[in-house]
Parts: sequence; C-alpha cells; structure tokens
Amino acid sequence: MAVDVLLGLQWGDEGKGKVVDFLAPKYDVVARFQGGPNAGHTLEFDGNKHVLHQVPSGIFHENIKNVIGNGVVLDPIVFINKEIESLKKYNINFKKNLFISKKASLILPTHRLLDKASELSKGENKIGSTLRGIGPTYQDKVARRAIRLGDILLPDFKKKYESLKEEHKSILDFYKLDYNSGDDNLSTLEDVFFTALEAIKNFNFIDSEYFVNQAIAEGRSVLAEGAQGSMLDVDFGSYPFVTSSNTTTAGVCSGLGIAPKHIKEVFGIFKAYCTRVGSGPFPTELHDAEGQKIRDIGREYGSTTGRPRRCGWIDLPALKYAIMINGVTQLFMMKADVLNSFEVIKACTDYKLDGKLSDQVPYDLCSTPVEPVWKSIKGWNTDTTNLKDFDKIPVALADYLTFLERELNVPISMVSIGPNRTETLMKPAILEKI
Ligand code: GDP
Ligand code: IMO
Ligand code: MG
Repeated sequence: MAVDVLLGLQWGDEGKGKVVDFLAPKYDVVARFQGGPNAGHTLEFDGNKHVLHQVPSGIFHENIKNVIGNGVVLDPIVFINKEIESLKKYNINFKKNLFISKKASLILPTHRLLDKASELSKGENKIGSTLRGIGPTYQDKVARRAIRLGDILLPDFKKKYESLKEEHKSILDFYKLDYNSGDDNLSTLEDVFFTALEAIKNFNFIDSEYFVNQAIAEGRSVLAEGAQGSMLDVDFGSYPFVTSSNTTTAGVCSGLGIAPKHIKEVFGIFKAYCTRVGSGPFPTELHDAEGQKIRDIGREYGSTTGRPRRCGWIDLPALKYAIMINGVTQLFMMKADVLNSFEVIKACTDYKLDGKLSDQVPYDLCSTPVEPVWKSIKGWNTDTTNLKDFDKIPVALADYLTFLERELNVPISMVSIGPNRTETLMKPAILEKI
C-alpha cells in the first residue's frame, strides 16, 4: 500500500488539522514528519474544538495508529502538560494509538530561551518565530549534538544534557539573556522538563522508520500530515522568514524514512485567500478594510500564539511554485465560506517584477519589489451553510474553482465550507479512490 501526503501550500494554517481528521478513517496510520509545537492544528467535531501541536490529527479515531516521526522536534513539556492533559477527557488509548520515534530531537528548556534571545537580538528584523525553540533545536540536530528522545533511556543522558546545556548557556550569555529570573527562568523550566521526561517514558517509543515501512509492507495505508506551509520551507520558502524544516513532500522521506516510490497522492491544501503569521514578505497582503473583513470572518488569529494573522488575496505564482515543489496531485480549497459575503474577490495571477510580468517566485522575495497583478472575480455572495454536495455548489463558486484549476493545472477535489469535520465537500469519486 501507499503513502499519501497532505500539506499546506501557503504560509501555514490552511486547515491541515481539519482535513487530516476528516480523511483519517480512510487510513491505518497518520504520521507527522516535521515541525513541532510551532504547529497548531485545529479540529472541530461533535461539539468539540481541539488544537493539536505535536500529536497527529488522526488521534480522535479509534483504530488509527498515530506516529510522531524522526523529523519532528518534540517538546516533552508541551506534549505532557498541554497536549496529553487536554486529551484526557476523550479517553484515548495512547498505548494503542500513539507512537513516538526514538529519533525525534528533543526541545530542551535552553532551546526555548535561545529562540527568545535570537529573536530579541534581531530587533525589527526578527523572524516572528513562535518562540517554541524550533530553530535552535534543528540547529543542534544538524550540528550533530541534539538529544533525541531515545537518549533519555541511555545511562549517559544526564551527562549529555548537562554538556549541551553548558554550551547553550554560553550562547545565552553572549546574547546577554538573563535566564535566572522571570517566569521562564531556566531552573523552573528544568523542573517541569524533567517531570515531563519521566511521564513521557510511559508512552510508546519506536523505531518509526521500521514501524512505518512494516505497515506499508503489510498493505496498510499511511497519511503523512504536514505542518507549517510550503512557503515556510527552509529551502524553498521566503528565506530567511521561514521555519527550520522541510515542510514539503521531500520532508516526508527524510522525516519518516519512507522511500519516494511509496508516495502516491499529494494533497495540497490552500485557503480561498491567503494568510501569514509572523514577519516576512507577503506579496498579496491587504492592509485595508477588506483584509480586516477576511480576518474577522475567518477568525484569523494564530492557533498556537493567538497573534492576528496577516490576510490577503490568493497568490497564484506562489501556489504554482508550491505545487511544483511538492508534486501536488489534488488540490483542496479551504475556508470558501469566509468569502461568502464578498461581491468581488481577487486573485493575483502574476507578479510585476521590474516592470515585467512573471508567474514565478523571484529568488529573493524579501529584497525584490513585487507588484501583484490582480484579476477581479465575481463573488458567489451566497450562504454555503447547508451545502452537502460538491456538485451543488453555487455557480460563481464553481466558476472560481474552474478558474483556479485552469491556472494551476491540478484538479480541486475538495472544498471546505466551515471548521467542522462535517462541513467538507469532496468529489465522491475521489473519496472512494482513497
Ligand atoms: P492548520 O495549522 O493548517 O491545521 O490550520 P489552523 O487550525 O491553524 O487554522 C485553520 C483555522 O480555520 C482553524 O481555526 C480551523 O478551525 C478553521 N477552519 C478550517 N477549515 C475551515 C473552513 O472551511 N471554514 C472556516 N470558516 N474555518 C475553517
Ligand atoms: P501550522 O502547522 C503558521 C511561522 C512563524 C514564523 C516562522 C518561524 O499551524 O500551519 P518557528 O517558530 O517555526 O521558528 O517560526 O514560521 N510558523 C507558522 N505559521 N502556521 C504554523 O504552523 C507555523 N509554524 C511556524 O509565525 O513566521
Ligand atoms: Mg495552524
């Protein structure tokens, strides 16, 4: 059996959690392959609203094995004190349904402090990171000195930890960050960290590359759940305003130990418009009342940090780029309902770069002045609340989809019209095929 991938094509928060939860019953395994607690994936079902950070979005389905892969950076404090704590009321059988790679890198208390120190030192040029320690942990992974989850079971763990902590302290001293006072002082963070480490030992630690490949060999189906978005990919995103992992399809292979030949469908999801949280270039950003209207109706505030998201119209050059990098086979359009009351919506079809039209993303989005070329499109201006059928969507919305399919050259097989699991319109033929 094959591995399908679901990932975001924009700057994150496209609605990945909702769709993974919707599709999960079609799969045996749901696996996260990168990112960490910078992610906030929101699920709504049966009157519940839940935000997951590191735990895969298949966790609410009884017969699905959820895997946190080696490519993830794992914060045991967030995992135990936040995620597992808030999942308690659902009576989930974690022994049966949740598996964590021993090779996942651990986010230490000093990584969070380093993230803060680095951002403070950048002043106005800060990345706008989620301050969850993501960048510093991936730095240590690549520098070959990270501590991995499996290490906490080894006899020299404490020694390794102390040695890395001392290195981190010297960097914090360089940044002149005071880590001895305040709520997030190191000593308090360490107490919570070591308590969480003891608790996490009760969970399944696995060699996730064997686990996932065995599942494939036994004919089971796997859904790889992306975090962040393609434009935040460390290689291909709006560098340096990116996250520190490969958020694109290639990350599935390295983040789970899956060979490319096993990957079948790549579901690329995008909002009917576009958002970004944190700093960095955003060619189609709206600074006016229309942007505010999208933010208000779409409740565009970060699921992890609560920050207002920057809002703008859909960016087709950026989407084409993301589709190319990821090898997207099907598109899912999210949050169509947010545009229900717009008489006219807009799409950026090209960038004007130095007076010339281009539908390619320039080398450096940060220093290249980009002027979006707009196409105005008639809005559907209809309530979509009671829609149940993909084939019954309003004509103007269908026209928008046809326009996008023509521009992007990939079929749109799902439209999402609300945050709830049930508010999902999928082409029946596609759902049967998965
Ligand atoms: P993720 O990080 O990609 O999983 O996305 P987030 O959960 O951070 O942000 C998406 C937000 O939009 C969440 O609040 C979802 O509940 C919500 N959402 C998802 N799909 C839809 C939709 O089709 N319509 C509306 N109105 N909200 C949606
Ligand atoms: P999900 O999975 C939106 C952004 C941050 C910042 C940049 C780097 O919910 O879509 P980091 O903490 O990773 O070093 O921050 O990336 N960012 C996200 N934006 N959704 C996310 O995740 C994000 N994870 C990180 O705002 O601009
Ligand atoms: Mg999110």
